[in-house]
Amino acid sequence: MPREIITLQTGQCGNQIGQEFWGQLCAQHGISPDGILQDVHTDTGDRKDVFFYQADDEHYIPRAILLDLEPRVVNTILTSPYANLYNPENIFLSTHGGGAGNNWALGYSQGEQLHEEVIEMIDREADGSDSLEGFMLLHSIAGGTGSGLGSYMLEALNDRYPKKIIQTYSVFPNNEETSDVVVQPYNSMLALKRLTLNADSVVVLDNAALNRIASDMLHIKNPTFTQTNQLVSTVMAASTATIRYPGYMNNDLVGLLAGLIPTSRAHFLMTSYTPFTVSSGDAPPPTSANVRKTTVLDVMRRLLQPKNRMVSTHPSKQSCYVSILNIIQGEADPTEVHKSLLRLRERRLAQFIPWGPASIQVALSKSSPYVRTPHRVSGLMLANHTAIAGLFRRTVDQYDRLRKRNAFLEQYKRERIFSDGLEEFDSSREVVMELIGEYEDMQKPGVPYDRAPAAPAATYDMSSRMG
Ligand code: GTP
Repeated sequence: MPREIITLQTGQCGNQIGQEFWGQLCAQHGISPDGILQDVHTDTGDRKDVFFYQADDEHYIPRAILLDLEPRVVNTILTSPYANLYNPENIFLSTHGGGAGNNWALGYSQGEQLHEEVIEMIDREADGSDSLEGFMLLHSIAGGTGSGLGSYMLEALNDRYPKKIIQTYSVFPNNEETSDVVVQPYNSMLALKRLTLNADSVVVLDNAALNRIASDMLHIKNPTFTQTNQLVSTVMAASTATIRYPGYMNNDLVGLLAGLIPTSRAHFLMTSYTPFTVSSGDAPPPTSANVRKTTVLDVMRRLLQPKNRMVSTHPSKQSCYVSILNIIQGEADPTEVHKSLLRLRERRLAQFIPWGPASIQVALSKSSPYVRTPHRVSGLMLANHTAIAGLFRRTVDQYDRLRKRNAFLEQYKRERIFSDGLEEFDSSREVVMELIGEYEDMQKPGVPYDRAPAAPAATYDMSSRMG
């Protein structure tokens, strides 16, 4: 039985990442941009129905809901080759069309006002699933729509579907340089509260790291959003590979996440992927010139290198991994995986929490038969690492500086959630400080929590082995 996942994409960033994601999924399942299956005779053993369903004429439609408060990005999608892929009933564009003006509170208020209309869409999609596993939210937390409307949707989903998994792919602002959105520390803080309390798992990405990877690994001078979004969608596709090409293990989201998340709040994941190849428009795909050999060991070693992380963190002496899951695609066999794990352990390349199993879980996944890559093996790392607390701390510091000056608060006070005062800011800051404390506590010896991540040493899924 499929375990369906419904994707909600909000705001400019969410919809642009979504566009790349659906492009990759279509390619990997042999579906054309207008939803037609290209090769009806080959049984590839894939599960298209996790992310797509079929219309009466059998063309495939993504289980996707596109939400934006200004029409530009969605209109671009609707004039692209993918214009007919989406269900038009699942597209919501606000009638006033002005966006949320980088104001979380405005995005959140819009969510309250649009509640019935959007929940209607979600309920319809949920009712069309046999065994809904959960939701994926794509957004940025720096602006107004993805951050504010995205936050509202997280609360609404949690309330209406408390038993379903909610995973987000959240683009954090680059808080090391001057931001393109001055109020991003406010927006990020308010969104972080909902990501902590209302999501089950958050994949954290930031544009500084994405741009660095695009320029260092792929030698792209000034990466466009399309190019960085291809990196993100590659990660999204790889992290759902074992669900879409299932074996006996790791074939649902809950199973994938179980070993990564020790407590309900410490669910913020970093990712690395190697080797990348990215193409854009008519340009030939740039080759990743510095990746010449791809054995399982090479891939696993590179996944541990901080320069390959898709989020900017500064690991300290104390910071360590809470858990790691590597999803390896391509020609890898369990013996090679086992030997690589032993070698990594000997080399002590990963520093783990002192109170949990110091092991890397590995899932082997089939690759799509429709997409040729020059690499023998590729890998994705999903990791829970305590250095993520440093990112949250920088957000708090920037927030405190802005708040001390009482800067830019008027636009927030105009919205209902702030009409009685600014407590919402204080409560968000409190939640984020607790989260930081929780991650920092994990670095200390002793088992501070009920449940250590359930990661037996060297678990790998032989059932989903290639070939
Ligand atoms: P409003 O514009 O206020 O309605 O909200 P929004 O959610 O549509 O804003 P947006 O998604 O543009 O969020 C702003 C942040 O997202 C900035 O930090 C941008 O750099 C980043 N961003 C915008 N579009 C993209 C994208 O396609 N990819 C990536 N990686 N980041 C993006």
